Amino acid sequence: MKKIIHLVMAARPNVMKVAPLYHALKKESWAEPCIVHTGQHYTDNMSGAFLRDLDLPEPQYSLGVGSGTHATQTGNTMMAYEALCLGHRPDLAVVVGDVNATLACALAAKKLGIPVAHMEAGLRSFDRAMPEEINRLATDSICDYLWTPSPDATAQLEREGISGGVTEVGNIMIDAYCLAEDQIKAAGTREDFRLEAGQYAIATFHRPVNVDIIDHLHHICDILADIARDIKIVLPLHPRTRKQLVLNGLMAPLQKNPAVIVCDALPYVPFMNLVLGARLVMTDSGGIQEETTYLGIPCLTLRTTTERPITISQGTNRLVHFGTLADEARRVLVMPSPKRPVIKGWDGRAASRTVRHIAQILGAAPDQVRKREAA
Ligand code: UD1
Repeated sequence: MKKIIHLVMAARPNVMKVAPLYHALKKESWAEPCIVHTGQHYTDNMSGAFLRDLDLPEPQYSLGVGSGTHATQTGNTMMAYEALCLGHRPDLAVVVGDVNATLACALAAKKLGIPVAHMEAGLRSFDRAMPEEINRLATDSICDYLWTPSPDATAQLEREGISGGVTEVGNIMIDAYCLAEDQIKAAGTREDFRLEAGQYAIATFHRPVNVDIIDHLHHICDILADIARDIKIVLPLHPRTRKQLVLNGLMAPLQKNPAVIVCDALPYVPFMNLVLGARLVMTDSGGIQEETTYLGIPCLTLRTTTERPITISQGTNRLVHFGTLADEARRVLVMPSPKRPVIKGWDGRAASRTVRHIAQILGAAPDQVRKREAA
């Protein structure tokens, strides 16, 4: 009997964390990976296109939860995932990242006595005003297996007194990049936008603290217009950001600026094609801080904290606020490009380390090991 492993995804950044694991598990004769999509993100450019870019099939189970307040989304996801598990009980549930569904599915599975693993455990921003921080803390405190992306995350769990069940598997986001690297390099997105490598910046902002507080959104628009005097900026818009810009009359001035290219949120491959050629990335995302570090591209993060401090201590990331973003951007533009840092476990092999660990947990011998032993 194959071991059934649920891989839960909900929102855009989850797809990159599930894909490498799905593909690695698919190669194992003992494993049956099943993608469970909760439906937190549902429009094609936030979900379906990401699955296609990372060569994933349609999810085996779609829970159709959709948008809502935090409690609505978390509660509805718990109920839907509990119902699924009661009918199709997995041997292991894997949750990834820090979105509402991460916590919801971990809670639902754990209370049914299903072993639960958290991919990307141990990250902390220490800012409990962020819903993601609550999701991270609560998920790590109940999961049986905690897979950390880097030594700082492992050390954080130790500081919290958690040592059992912790395995440092490495950064799965880098596996996703490695899987799609050829496609990313071959994508003609830069040409489609008429951009030359090294001659443009990218900006992405979607955190409620930046785009739902209207004064803050005004600041961002003013700062981007200022920076655009020195370099072209591509601005892919998360649906939340688009809505607020339109509602507050800020979209038209951005679109009129010839140095600002406004577009909808982009799927993974075209977005990473743009990142690869960018001189600078400005963001409030989590994953982009890691992708830019891996690629050696300067990143300015418009947040007061980061749950990924290794991107600052060893990478190309720097935290900025409204008062420093424009100056920091200008500083980056006159500096030589940084070197690509080498970080332990950011090597494209996190999924294979994780599969070895899953095989141990579930009492299966990974196929590679079996083949070596038979030889
Ligand atoms: C969620 C995650 C955040 C992650 C982000 C990536 C939580 C608490 N937040 O935030 O950590 O960085 O995803 O994008 O889980 N919408 C659409 N189409 C979609 C999805 C959403 O139009 O496919 C719109 C809806 O109006 C929705 C809003 O975007 O209300 C926000 O979506 P939601 O999933 O609630 O949160 P995100 O801001 O995307």
